[in-house]
Amino acid sequence: MQIISGKDTANSIKAEIAAEVEQLRSDRGRAPHLAAILVGNDPASETYVANKEKSCAEVGFLSSVYRLPENVTEDDLIKTIDFINHDDEIDGLIVQLPLPKHINVDKVVGTINPLKDVDGFHPVNIGKMVLGQDSYIPATPMGILLLLERAKIETLGKHCVVVGRSNIVGTPASILLSRNTNNANCTVTLCHSKTKNLKEICRQADILIVAIGQCEMITEDYIKEGAVVVDVGIHRVKDETKKSGFSLKGDVKHDDKVLKKVSAITPVPGGVGPMTIIGLLINTLKSFKKEFYQ
Ligand code: GUN
Repeated sequence: MQIISGKDTANSIKAEIAAEVEQLRSDRGRAPHLAAILVGNDPASETYVANKEKSCAEVGFLSSVYRLPENVTEDDLIKTIDFINHDDEIDGLIVQLPLPKHINVDKVVGTINPLKDVDGFHPVNIGKMVLGQDSYIPATPMGILLLLERAKIETLGKHCVVVGRSNIVGTPASILLSRNTNNANCTVTLCHSKTKNLKEICRQADILIVAIGQCEMITEDYIKEGAVVVDVGIHRVKDETKKSGFSLKGDVKHDDKVLKKVSAITPVPGGVGPMTIIGLLINTLKSFKKEFYQ
């Protein structure tokens, strides 16, 4: 049984990116630059943004965080986006989600310059991705694909079941894995909260990708013998035995029964999590290199 370490994979890809940045910096006279807009003080978002800043520093990127108050108006948020859209020294821009309820997320994301949309959330990028055209691929699905590739998991002709249809993970992952490209070419089934016979469908999966947001919902009885399992979930659970007072769990129950059954599995933490930032770094580098799609 193989534990697919996102941490190790992310570290080797970071080293590759850092080496490339070192080379490119002298040609371009500056380093790639990622900007993040953080609205309010959501602790999870604070952590995500801090991790993104740390990863940027590790690979030699510049990063900036634009902090706006929880009660910022939609107009003022869009003004900040517009300012960054027009800054030639910023290559990538992300607006950390979720946004406060009074803000229309679709409207806000729609104002990001698609050529700087390194999250790949703008309708132009989503549309191009669906059509198989060059675009910025959303970070988490890109991280999953890279993880499978680096772990040498065969995907061609395999049945991949994706559990969860979010715009950020499940839906783009299902599209990318079904594509006629290297490291895809799966037959994909996309399941969600209304799927009947979820267990039976999951048990048909050669590759099971779980991004349903339900702590330890997928147990041994959902898994086919020898399946590859990718666990995208991350949940903080109270744990008195830990110094921090909590432990991190996935959408899959990583108990002995599961570990005995799978041929490979991504751990939580240290699986998909560290790989999502890699997708963001790769997209920012792509923008910096002006490898824009037409
Ligand atoms: N919130 C949770 N995941 C993401 C992500 O990938 N990008 C942004 N911008 N916000 C998120």
